[in-house]
Amino acid sequence: MAKIKKAFFCQNCGAESPKWVGKCPSCNQWNTFIEEVIAKESSKDSWQVTTATTPTKSKARKLKDIATEELSRLNSHSIELNRVLGGGLVPGSVILLGGEPGIGKSTLLLQLAMNMRSLDVLYVSGEESEQQVKMRAERLNISSDECYFLSETNIQKIFHQVKEVRPKVLVIDSIQTLHSEHLDSTPGSVSQVRECAGEFQKFAKQTHTSVFLIGHITKDGSLAGPKVLEHMVDTVLHFEGDRNYGYRILRTMKNRFGSTSELGIFEMSGTGLREVSNPSEILLSQREENLSGIAIAASIEGSRPMLIEIQALVSSAVYGTPQRSTTGFDARRLNMLLAVLEKKSGFRLSMKDVFLNIAGGLKVDDPAIDLAVVCAILSSNEDVEIDQKICFAAEVGLSGEIRSVNHIEQRISEAEKLGFKSIVVSKYNSKSLNFNTGIRVVAVSKIEEVFRFVFG
Ligand code: TYD
Ligand code: MG
Repeated sequence: MAKIKKAFFCQNCGAESPKWVGKCPSCNQWNTFIEEVIAKESSKDSWQVTTATTPTKSKARKLKDIATEELSRLNSHSIELNRVLGGGLVPGSVILLGGEPGIGKSTLLLQLAMNMRSLDVLYVSGEESEQQVKMRAERLNISSDECYFLSETNIQKIFHQVKEVRPKVLVIDSIQTLHSEHLDSTPGSVSQVRECAGEFQKFAKQTHTSVFLIGHITKDGSLAGPKVLEHMVDTVLHFEGDRNYGYRILRTMKNRFGSTSELGIFEMSGTGLREVSNPSEILLSQREENLSGIAIAASIEGSRPMLIEIQALVSSAVYGTPQRSTTGFDARRLNMLLAVLEKKSGFRLSMKDVFLNIAGGLKVDDPAIDLAVVCAILSSNEDVEIDQKICFAAEVGLSGEIRSVNHIEQRISEAEKLGFKSIVVSKYNSKSLNFNTGIRVVAVSKIEEVFRFVFG
């Protein structure tokens, strides 16, 4: 009888060790090694075993001789998705889509599969049955004749079907539910995830099929499974958003074929995900009268300008220790801005509770929203409202100076387009401005100047 081969794998980074160790030598995490059975008696790729085609011979070629039409992108029929992918789907690329349960990963990719009408698409689900997917598809209200569906978790059987259907795009819902016959460990374990992802990667490269892999994420928000998974694939996308809001944001974390700072915005509706082409309109709450504690920031996410509403509430602390709480903004940055206001501008905030919220459930890390955060806090503290037609785009430094930010022209144009009357920017930004705008650009260099301009 053949001896069963076992090894220990780090569940965090996928490192392998012949014996158990407490601390992973490669990622330094504690207690992550778990024993998994490995039986590699068949080392052939499932993809090649199940297809009769012989793999193409490798031969070095000159870069200039490689035809680029092999890489002409496929249209995903979604403006937002195309943007996030860097202009469309690259044939032969592997895209990993991560996100919390229930955020809409399956919906997004089923919608994509059904929208790519002229191409054969195979959607494989290891999580849902044919009936469940059919029900979802009916809900989405898209008619598609070219979309195939398969409910299967065995990767060898999946490749068997792939060989029959020969799809141009393959969607795998989710990589953690698949298992390969060549390994004995359970689905979702490090060795299985690595093995299956490796097979899809080889398959994609050899057949120029685009493969989408859905990946689960762990409690702390990183992709479950080995870190090598992220190295193997060409593109890593994150689908995020607050489940209580309808908005979903698709971010690029890694992209071999485009920029990583792109962002796609969707809205979950009763009939699937709807694209949001003008995010500022949904992020600014529609209000009639001026309210204190609200300031608008002209922010840029990826290459896309958007105006965001910042809401602050400052009140006297009920308990000894004042509370500071934020949604969508870095709490440490809020503390820093409060310290600057206290120390450099003399506002007494140390005994106040401060709550900060970015409307619409968005998470923003653009430093250019600093000034709007400061103004929202001051507006709530003084209980004086800020004119609805003013917006802000500047960073606040540690000594209370107003610093310049990048892409200022784009921010100003967006504010102008949305009907703002004035935008407050740093003096250093306004110096380099050399274009005419119909909006008043107010240049400031200190918080006091902003205070005087805004609150009179
Ligand atoms: P789903 O795509 O199943 O999430 P994931 O695959 O990331 O776990 O999305 C599930 C949620 O989306 C579920 O709570 C119901 C909601 N939903 C809608 O609101 N409208 C729809 O048309 C669909 C299909 C789902
Ligand atoms: Mg799902």
